[in-house]
Amino acid sequence: MRKIYIFDTTLRDGEQSPGVNLNTREKLEIAYQLEKLGIDRIEAGFPAASQGDLAAVNAVARSIKKSTIIGLSRSRMQDIDAVREALQGAEDPCIHLFLATSPIHRKYKLRMEKEQVLETARDALRYARKYFSKIEFSCEDAGRTELDFLCRMTAMAIEEGASVVNIPDTVGYLYPYEYGNIFKTLKEQVPGIEKIQLSAHCHDDLGMATANSLAAILGGADQIEGTINGIGERAGNTALEEVALALETRSDFFGAKTSLELTEISRTSRLVSRLTGMVVPGNKAIVGANAFAHESGIHQDGMLKEKTTYEIMSPETIGLKESKLVLGKHSGRHAFREKLTDLGYTLGEEQLNEAFAKFKALADKKKDVTNEDILSILEEKLDDT
Ligand code: KIV
Ligand code: ZN
Repeated sequence: MRKIYIFDTTLRDGEQSPGVNLNTREKLEIAYQLEKLGIDRIEAGFPAASQGDLAAVNAVARSIKKSTIIGLSRSRMQDIDAVREALQGAEDPCIHLFLATSPIHRKYKLRMEKEQVLETARDALRYARKYFSKIEFSCEDAGRTELDFLCRMTAMAIEEGASVVNIPDTVGYLYPYEYGNIFKTLKEQVPGIEKIQLSAHCHDDLGMATANSLAAILGGADQIEGTINGIGERAGNTALEEVALALETRSDFFGAKTSLELTEISRTSRLVSRLTGMVVPGNKAIVGANAFAHESGIHQDGMLKEKTTYEIMSPETIGLKESKLVLGKHSGRHAFREKLTDLGYTLGEEQLNEAFAKFKALADKKKDVTNEDILSILEEKLDDT
């Protein structure tokens, strides 16, 4: 089975979520948990952005031993020097250089022609090569870049010693079929492509970041970049837990797996949510509070008979204890009786019918019926008899 490397950028692109600011202690706490989760590569920050971020990246670089630690850098000498300083003491350092390649970015942001972009990136790679044996190069806004230019940029990065070339869909513009095809074309057409790893980095502006990342894997990508809970600029980045569980659940289809310790996913998600203040929506895939919760009577009945009727993966896989059967107005007698058993009550048929009728009347008025609600129905019931 092919291994897919996981590059986590929760501490860099994730921290770029509006309103999020992580101090050194918080970055370290998350980095330790990412290491436990088995993340291959951790992008700890953008050292040239501030002295505080440089210090935080350095603290992570000195503390984390099992994952590669990465610092982001524009294609400029000062930024590369900031990453050199920040990664001092790292067991396995890597610099992540980037330069925009799309016509829109070349014209309005960089004010550069194609050849200037190519040569600026080449100079940066040559300078970085003096200090780093591991270099990732990103063609920012690759998703809107001419495919032949992307091939030329990739070939140049390989020539200049990059070990990973990243193809970001920076603005979440592409459709999975198109994104997957870019990888396929690069694999087929760029000389020396077998010497490096190709990486996918997606944003979720149209809600396709996970689908695009999976399409990239089918097209030949070796590495997926993303964040925990999918946090990041605008609508966020690829949610790494979604990619990991898609590969795990559909290994028959993808023939590829990560080496993540999946049982750490739930804990990592909660930690990132608490420290960033970014609340995870209840219906979020994999880590939302409702991801393993069932309310309707038909589903609950199925679950009580055989869990695979309504669950394609088990909550234990991501480190949760069990699925939840939530009692509400859609719930049926089977789940109600099961709840009573959990609470230590066994009622006869007639008593059960009466209690169930009271429960249904209450459920019509209330969103969630709690254990306390059920206990008070039972107490009322038992007082009457
Ligand atoms: O989305 C993007 O293009 C980025 C680059 C810096 C890799 O985050
Ligand atoms: Zn990004």
